[in-house]
Amino acid sequence: MVDWSKVEALNPPRLTELFAADTDRVAKFSVDVAGIHFDFSKTHLDAAALAAFEGLAKSAGLAAKRDALFAGDKVNVTEGRAVTHTAERGEGSEEDVARAAMLRARMRALIDAIEGEALGPVRHILHIGIGGSALGPDLLVDALGRDADRYDVAVVSNIDGVALEEALDAFDPQATIVVVASKTFTTTETMTNAESALAWLREDGVDDPYGRVIALTAAPDAAVEWGVDETRVLPFADSVGGRYSLWSSIGFPAAMALGWDAFEQLLEGAAEMDRHFRLTALHENAPALAAFADLFYAQVRGCQTRATFAYDERLRLLPSYLQQLEMESNGKGVTAQGVPLDRPSSPIVWGGVGTDAQHAVFQLLHQGTHVVPVEFVAAIEAGDALAPDHHEQLLLNAFAQGAALMKGRENAADPARAYPGDRPSTTILLDQLDARTLGALIAFYEHRTFVSGALLGINPFDQFGVELGKEMARAAGEGGGDLDSSTRDLIARAFGD
Ligand code: F6P
Repeated sequence: MVDWSKVEALNPPRLTELFAADTDRVAKFSVDVAGIHFDFSKTHLDAAALAAFEGLAKSAGLAAKRDALFAGDKVNVTEGRAVTHTAERGEGSEEDVARAAMLRARMRALIDAIEGEALGPVRHILHIGIGGSALGPDLLVDALGRDADRYDVAVVSNIDGVALEEALDAFDPQATIVVVASKTFTTTETMTNAESALAWLREDGVDDPYGRVIALTAAPDAAVEWGVDETRVLPFADSVGGRYSLWSSIGFPAAMALGWDAFEQLLEGAAEMDRHFRLTALHENAPALAAFADLFYAQVRGCQTRATFAYDERLRLLPSYLQQLEMESNGKGVTAQGVPLDRPSSPIVWGGVGTDAQHAVFQLLHQGTHVVPVEFVAAIEAGDALAPDHHEQLLLNAFAQGAALMKGRENAADPARAYPGDRPSTTILLDQLDARTLGALIAFYEHRTFVSGALLGINPFDQFGVELGKEMARAAGEGGGDLDSSTRDLIARAFGD
């Protein structure tokens, strides 16, 4: 029986009081791992909260669930399969790690062949995929590929043809490879975009358009049946979930654009975070502490959202990546056993880029009636070389926002100019943004999501919630479906009767 009583009874003092009571608070509530400093001191976690969450974790069997994940047990119970994304970076059962290494060697060999011009000269990579088959590679290339001049990469996900047209306009068909990334190789958006990309190659006189396609998939037979030669199909294991798949062949465009060494460093950084998560006591364990703070605000304080602000332009895609990771994983209404949840599931995850967001949404964060736990993500080393000191101002802004949210300011004479304060934040400070630290950061987020799911009793590895809408779109396209009068009216307006 999972015992939430001690967590629910938590009533910590104000943040400023927590700091006043313990001069060692920053050291006690900070963790350094894999070139990343995690500062949880501006959250309401204190000794009592840690004890309560450790008790909760014990009653929820968190350690056993964590061990089962790394052992390759079938922890995705609703789909009856193992979850092996950590094996992609070398942390998992011997069998899973060996299989991932074999598939990675295959990817490496194909990349070497492409670099040796086996497909002719290649300058452009058109990566077509959606959800987990796009967000991860897009984040990696956008964050780390700005100075890389190896290949131009465009990631196209949306079924809206405007997205594909924009990418195609910038590319030369004779120097483009088309990467079709889809775990299932059935996703409508991806297959429609892939067909249009083939037509574009054909129209430009490419004789064998399929010869320029690379498929990244857990359904290799479907890719071959669609027309991709087996030698250009890079499979990954079915036990790697879509939103956890950037470590597998789904990372192909990143490995191409950033180079193989960078891709390996990404995996190594993630593996370091895996070991930290697996081996470190909960009160010093970064993913666990982050999940405890998330659960405190969502379950005890009733906060419905959490916001992540990347104070680094290179990480501007991080909030969208996290939205899928966390909301598709933990946005569930029932436990893994199908029992209705009697508490909130995942918070709504949103965010943006600092300092832009300060001039748009921070008003609500400082004075609005919603309390939004905030996460600041920044890197000490600058990504730019501009003077005067852009980076210094960027970092100072991130730090000052956290301080202001916590401290607030009284103003009895003029309430419109008062700030309530006691608003929590976490700061995640990377030494520098490189493949290794980014790998560790993403793995941190994966494990944080896992801990929240485990303590809520949710299976974070299925996503049945997305199916109904897909099914109804298909049925509507075929002129059928049990549709309400509003939806029928909209269809008639758009397409005629
Ligand atoms: O619809 C949701 C989803 O299944 C995600 O979980 C997944 O990342 C995305 O669609 C794409 O799926 P696929 O990789 O099979 O094309």
